[in-house]
Amino acid sequence: MPFVIGIDTSTTATKAILVDPSGAVLRVGASTYDYQSPHPRWSEQDPALWWEATVDAIRTATSGIDPAEVVAIGLTGQMHGLVLLDENADVVRPAILWNDQRTAAECDEIRSRVGATRLIHVTGNDALTGFTAPKILWVRNNEPAAFARARHVLLPKDYVRLKLTGDYATDRADGGGTLLFDHASRTWSQEIVSKLDLDAALLPPTFEGPDITGGLTPEASAATGLAVGTPVVAGGGDQAASAVGTGAIDPGVVTVSLGTSGVVFAATDRPSFEPAGRVHAFPHAVPDRWHLMGVMLSAAGSYRWFRDVVAPDFDFARLDDAAAAVEPGSDGLLFLPYLSGERSPHPDPNARGGFVGLTVRHELSHMSRAVLEGVAFGLADILDLMVAAGIDRPGAVRISGGGAKSPLWRQIIADVFEVTVETVNASEGAAYGAAILAAVGSEWYVTGQAAAEAWIKVTGTTTPSGASDRYRGLHRIYRDLYPALKPTFTALST
Ligand code: XUL
Repeated sequence: MPFVIGIDTSTTATKAILVDPSGAVLRVGASTYDYQSPHPRWSEQDPALWWEATVDAIRTATSGIDPAEVVAIGLTGQMHGLVLLDENADVVRPAILWNDQRTAAECDEIRSRVGATRLIHVTGNDALTGFTAPKILWVRNNEPAAFARARHVLLPKDYVRLKLTGDYATDRADGGGTLLFDHASRTWSQEIVSKLDLDAALLPPTFEGPDITGGLTPEASAATGLAVGTPVVAGGGDQAASAVGTGAIDPGVVTVSLGTSGVVFAATDRPSFEPAGRVHAFPHAVPDRWHLMGVMLSAAGSYRWFRDVVAPDFDFARLDDAAAAVEPGSDGLLFLPYLSGERSPHPDPNARGGFVGLTVRHELSHMSRAVLEGVAFGLADILDLMVAAGIDRPGAVRISGGGAKSPLWRQIIADVFEVTVETVNASEGAAYGAAILAAVGSEWYVTGQAAAEAWIKVTGTTTPSGASDRYRGLHRIYRDLYPALKPTFTALST
């Protein structure tokens, strides 16, 4: 039987999944690693870890099958990371990751070189510390000897591609996250590259997600056990690939992911962007589609923090039961989820969390429910920005991630968003999207849409319960809190 493999090079592990032509995941291999923080706000990783983990994960995922049956591999991974290689393809310095915060000065440098408004018009995005371009400038400004040796810039999953096929390449969804892309034409912007005084030769060729970028080298074949020449498709950054893996490819399907961070993702059929750059706008991982995406830094992470710090004896099911016993609105208690600063809709590293409105009547149960509701309000703020940027307000959202397992949280999202919340049968996230792109690359399906339609089914729905009126009023109050508290957050951080 033929198989495809999806590989996700995430921040904490590399996962490989083996998928058959019916879309069933037969086997999963995963190998974990750490990342380093050699200075406060730095986040780095040795790319060699990704390759070792890839080999491990592929070997586990393919154990027991004839490796010649693998007909294509799709790649995905953590976005925005900077991998710098020299002329021999050796790593020049550790990769600087998406969650690294050292580049505030370089973000200002980019805005001043390009013009803040022009930057958003060309790339669809404002400069964020996590994006790749400011990291390149940081190395140039702070480690000139390392920069002088650099001949290639790659994103994390594309380093894995280089090891698999020997090719320098990236896909358009991940490329968009560099801040060096022309959003409309889906490839490197000559204007941005030249205004930042970068050499375009550093950057790899770009491909659409299902395009084949190369085949396995004899060395990679020997390491992984897969056949020489096995095609590798371009794939996509992890957010776009996750969206493909839950069927959010065409306009109309909006996804909400409730992981440590929370993401609201909407596919578009044109290169829309939010005029102030408060949500991200990147090409999608399939041709002729783009997407808007907002990232809340502490979503399920807020609930985990609350459990760990305030209710360490509770498991999440018990905490949910306590929260469910309280009326919608938590008796006037609001929670702000900006525990790790925020990205969308308030790009502010100094933003802080808080409970507002505590009284002696409030108990642990109210606080638990307020956390779930506060995260829902913050995610709804992101959706509202996307609607203002031109997407149609959806009738349903597809939910995934650890937090999506909570029926109570699904109900709160349905009530706050005033939409039907759907769950789907696909639970392997970005790796599954990468497998779908590989299935298209190997011509099992003509498009990502056709593959997703065949493989992904809605497994459950939650409809609004009647609490929406109460939530609408509270959401208005919630929305006023960040602007009111911003000066306080700034003062607390200086
Ligand atoms: C997306 C983002 C994260 C990373 C880590 O913009 O920063 O999703 O890709 O996985």
